[in-house]
Amino acid sequence: MKVISVVGARPQLVKLAPIAAAMAATSHTHRILHTGQHYDADLSDVFFSGLGIPAPDVHLGVGSGSHGAQTGSMLTALDPIFEAERPDWVLVYGDTNSTIAATLAAVKLHIPVAHLEAGLRSFNRRMPEEHNRVLTDHAADLLLAPTEVAMRHLADENLADRSVLVGDVMVDVCLSVRDTVAADPAAHDHLPAHLDRSAPYVVATLHRPDNTDDRDRLDGILDALAALPVQVALLAHPRLIAKADHHGLSLERGSIVLGRPLPYAGMVAAVLGSTGVVTDSGGLQKEAFLLGRAGTTIRPETEWVETLEGGWNVLVPDPHLLAPGELAGIVTRGAPGTDIGAPYGDGTAAEEVVRVLAARG
Ligand code: UD1
Repeated sequence: MKVISVVGARPQLVKLAPIAAAMAATSHTHRILHTGQHYDADLSDVFFSGLGIPAPDVHLGVGSGSHGAQTGSMLTALDPIFEAERPDWVLVYGDTNSTIAATLAAVKLHIPVAHLEAGLRSFNRRMPEEHNRVLTDHAADLLLAPTEVAMRHLADENLADRSVLVGDVMVDVCLSVRDTVAADPAAHDHLPAHLDRSAPYVVATLHRPDNTDDRDRLDGILDALAALPVQVALLAHPRLIAKADHHGLSLERGSIVLGRPLPYAGMVAAVLGSTGVVTDSGGLQKEAFLLGRAGTTIRPETEWVETLEGGWNVLVPDPHLLAPGELAGIVTRGAPGTDIGAPYGDGTAAEEVVRVLAARG
């Protein structure tokens, strides 16, 4: 069996790591194609080196652009590669522009497409990722779902016959990196030098267009974070830096301690050392949950609804509109400490993915 994994953005590299390892343990052929959607070393290179992923076989280098321009460049570049390679499967990950581009290119060449992390829904049509997910699921031939809830969404859209529950590959990588980090946390400390490690801190990230693109909203959210009674290690995505710069806003204010995006093990170490996480990222919400830290999500909804059970994750759509002290109460509430069960599987999803691909290829 020959599989081409198409990735392009940071969260896809995290999911690729356990798949690449599981494929390498077999005699199947695995090629990695990087679209170049994320090109900063902090968002791409450190994930390959840090997670032991082989270098991409093909790099399209498409870079940034509007959704149309970015997706269109990928489509144009993917056609001849898929034609030449003719894999048994094109494996696409998650919900980015790289996911939908590879799906469209492959299905039109009658190359089977498998979608990893199928069936997630926010039901928020303002999110570009929601369109990418829905369209990818409806076009793909095999839907690899991480959870029972995702399986139900697929069934509701008449896609049950193409769906298989495999578990969540992010558990595979998160738990194994947790064990490595726990053995020597200091070796993975990439938090800003001026963060006071002897005092409590929360880890924060912010990058979604709905939170970054409107000047007043971004300013309000930053003020709300700055007023927290605990250090806020804000690990800024390039989009956040670019938008703050464009709006003439300073990120460093009050409790905020500004830092760069972290390598994966660095992020796991940062979360383990924190008292909680404040984020609008899908992946980090789940990592907080898996690592036993209280999560606060700056969004009106989440695709990862399992994290809400028992109050592990709390949605705060408009932190800047809360009464003074209310956000602090939520963010510093501490981890619930209840058993989270295993809603995302047992950390062996990647092997299951390879098994299912081989059985159906
Ligand atoms: C993308 C994904 C999103 C994912 C996120 C994780 C889509 C529609 N969105 O969002 O699902 O959660 O990645 O990081 O595919 N930029 C850089 N350097 C980079 C990459 C981006 O400076 O390496 C800046 C550019 O100004 C660019 C902006 O970030 O215009 C947005 O990048 P883009 O890849 O379009 O989307 P993300 O916001 O990163």
